[in-house]
Amino acid sequence: MKVYATRMLPQAGVDMLTAAGIPLTQFEGRQALNQDELIEICKHYDAVICAGQKLGAAFFEACPHLKCVALLSVGYDNVDLQAASHLNIPVTNTPGVLDASTAETAFLLMMATARKAFFMHQYILDGHWGFTDPTANLGIDLEGKTVGIFGLGNIGTVFAKYCKSFYQSPIIYHNRNRNIAAENLLDARYVSFEELLRESDVLSVHANLSASTRGIFNKDTFIKMKSSSIFINAARGGIHDENDLYEAIVEGQIWGAGLDVTNPEPMLPNNPLLRLPTVSILPHIGSATEGTRAAMAILAAKNIIAARDGMPLPNLVNKDALS
Ligand code: DGY
Repeated sequence: MKVYATRMLPQAGVDMLTAAGIPLTQFEGRQALNQDELIEICKHYDAVICAGQKLGAAFFEACPHLKCVALLSVGYDNVDLQAASHLNIPVTNTPGVLDASTAETAFLLMMATARKAFFMHQYILDGHWGFTDPTANLGIDLEGKTVGIFGLGNIGTVFAKYCKSFYQSPIIYHNRNRNIAAENLLDARYVSFEELLRESDVLSVHANLSASTRGIFNKDTFIKMKSSSIFINAARGGIHDENDLYEAIVEGQIWGAGLDVTNPEPMLPNNPLLRLPTVSILPHIGSATEGTRAAMAILAAKNIIAARDGMPLPNLVNKDALS
């Protein structure tokens, strides 16, 4: 089993593959490989570990020999799973190990947005910190404010738990299906999507990107939110419309936004959202802690080793792939 990784892996994953006697080659470039380049490379490997890589039908059709495509992410929205399944290629992900770090990133963005923290940091760098004006640079309070979760799964539950224990936030949520365990844990109330928009003081997105969530936060939805509300997205940038978000903030339909994900990624430095006082943006670093990234690399390595050994893959996403 020869393995290629499209990014440098955290050492814990490298060590695990090495200990299992699996040769690993890592892409050392700073520019993402395009699909054609990856196809050419993968012709010479049995399995691939992918981070932030779009894998379309053409990739799977050109590489039907792959024994495992191990994603270094929990999300798999950029992978054509149907094509992989059709060719019997197993795709795995890294669930369960990044819930806390991603929820923490959403929490950080909520606090930073409420207090205009990123903008204020820039304000100092720009030499504007002089006269203290008691009426200027005011944020909003979060204590006791209602937090609405769009997509109350594992990450959303941890985020809600942080909000509840830190700010005593009442929790409401909207999902495709009710999450009774989380309702009991958080005393959370299931609401319709319309109620979520209307009642949330902070609305935090933790849903997958899918046909039903793509662009769901847009001018028609922002206008239904409270003018004092904060929109947070640490899930996928495709779930909100960036131009509509900008307009909604500038026109005072919502207070501000915290984003760990943008559309497209990377966000261009001239994006006007970056200049707004009540906007905090991070470059998709939800899972970027040393511990989480090591755990993700270990999961990817475990899946590769299982594929080599003909064992059930611990984190198989396309369960229909292996007939
Ligand atoms: C994930 O694991 O899906 C993170 O968002 C990184 O892409």
